This record gives sequence, C-alpha cells and structure tokens, in this order.
Amino acid sequence: MKERIEGALERCLSALDDADTPPRLRQALRAAVFPGGARLRPRLLLTVVEAHGDPAPDLADAAAVAVELLHCSSLVHDDLPCFDDAALRRGQPTIHRGFGESTAVLVGDGLIFLAVETLTNVAAVDFPKAAATLKELMRAAGPREGLVCGQALEGEAHIDLGSYHRAKTGALFEAAAVMGALVVGADPVPYQRMAMELGLAYQIADDMLDHQGGPSTGGKTGNQDQRKGRPNAVASLGLSGAQERIEGHRAIALSHVEGLPDSGRLVVLIEHTVSRLVNAVNPMSSASSG
Ligand code: IPE
Ligand code: MG
Repeated sequence: MKERIEGALERCLSALDDADTPPRLRQALRAAVFPGGARLRPRLLLTVVEAHGDPAPDLADAAAVAVELLHCSSLVHDDLPCFDDAALRRGQPTIHRGFGESTAVLVGDGLIFLAVETLTNVAAVDFPKAAATLKELMRAAGPREGLVCGQALEGEAHIDLGSYHRAKTGALFEAAAVMGALVVGADPVPYQRMAMELGLAYQIADDMLDHQGGPSTGGKTGNQDQRKGRPNAVASLGLSGAQERIEGHRAIALSHVEGLPDSGRLVVLIEHTVSRLVNAVNPMSSASSG
C-alpha cells in the first residue's frame, strides 16, 4: 500500500520535471508532498477500493493522489503566517519558512489544481466515476462544509467544536472513503459514516497532542490552539472528556464497518489511525495541563 501511494504521488510530481514549472516552485511542491506524513486519506481510500477487488486501479490511484494533494495543500495554507504561522510540519520547516510566503501560497494553490487535473486526466477511463469522485473531493475541500469552511470558522466569534472538527478534518476523511466507494461502485453511505467518525476521533486526538504542546508535537508546531484562540477538545471537554469522545467516535466507526467486505482491514485501519495520535500523547504532561 505504501509503495502504491508513494509511487502514484511520485509519478504525478515528476510529470512537472518536463514542464515549464520554475525550479523553485517545483522544489517547493515536492517539499510539500515528500516526505509524507501518515498518508491516512489515500490509505483509507485504497483500503476501501482493495476490499472490493481493485477493479479500476488507474482511477483509484488518481483518486488517492488527488485526496493526498488536497490534504497537503491544506497543510501548506494552514501553516501560513496569516493562519497558524507555524514553523514546523512533518518534522521539516514549513513551506513558507523554507521557500518564502509567496511561493507557499502558490504551492497550496498549485496542489489543488494538480489534484483536480489528476482526476480529470482519468476522465477517459470512466467519465461518470471521475466526475463523481472529483465532485466529492470539491465538496470536502470547499466553503459549504469542507476545509475552507473549517478554516473560515476560525475567524468567527463563536465556534461550535463539532462543526469545526467536521469541516476541518471530518470532511476530507469522509471524501477519501466515499471516493473509494465511488471508484468501485459500492454504496458510499456506510463508508461515509465510518470515515466521519474516524476523522472526528482523529481530530480530538490531534487536539490532545496540540494541547500537550512542545516544540515538535508530532513533527509540527504545538500549542497552536491556545496561542491562536482556536477551539480545542481538551480545553472544552477536559482530558478525560476528550478521551471519552474519542472512544465514542471509535466505537461508532467500528460499528459502521461490520458486514462490509474485508471489514477486518478496515478495523485495523481504524484502530491504527486512532491509536497513532493517542499513543503519542504523553499522559503525564497532558494530565497536568488538562
Ligand atoms: C494533520 O493531518 C491535520 C489534521 C487534520 C489533524 P495528518 O495528521 O493526517 O497529517 P500528515 O499527513 O500525517 O502529516
Ligand atoms: Mg490552522
């Protein structure tokens, strides 16, 4: 799975080597995508696809690349000085720190267009499916209920924690699983429900990690929520309240995969995704600050 994701991303980015893309932008685009993080969203997408026998691999690869590029673009923009002003991402300097702010804006924009182009490139394989997956990705990225909505909520006086988490994280998890279901022609509903719960559990765990602070919390700048006055699950619910919420979302996510093809792999993915961040939280430091 890892080789499949990295290989598909590499093919997409290396296509720029023969293009007119200025070298500095090309280097910055690469730095935004490689080395990656956990690649959770393409993993989720391909796990759904492979559970159904991987009937359209080119379409699946394009969808996996598109969802990861969209995610990477959101990280680059989120780290900008006008949003979080973060110094560190995935253990490396953020794109604006490494390449300058104007290049970072272009990298974020460029990755969105590359994501869209990647899906339109496979329209000849199956136009309805390519269009449906692109529509789902745009929903999850956009201003109605997606990433742009989540980012914009940060500028509002009163922010509902659940709406904020659904938009900034849940929507793209949801899109990943739904795009997988669309690629194979499966009913997207159980996947959609599972992935939203998983995304919410993941974001609460991410809030726990952020709340714990420290300079390299999970390879990124910590304590951002408190510093920027953002809603944070630990600040709202306390540490044990946040842990209970994670457990609730995890249990509902697991309930939605019961009876689905190859549900064992989905269970493993859910467990790994939730435990990845929860295990990174240091119980001592969180207990004292929660
Ligand atoms: C970070 O996402 C932003 C959140 C939605 C919590 P990830 O934790 O998936 O970031 P990478 O891709 O692994 O670096
Ligand atoms: Mg942010």
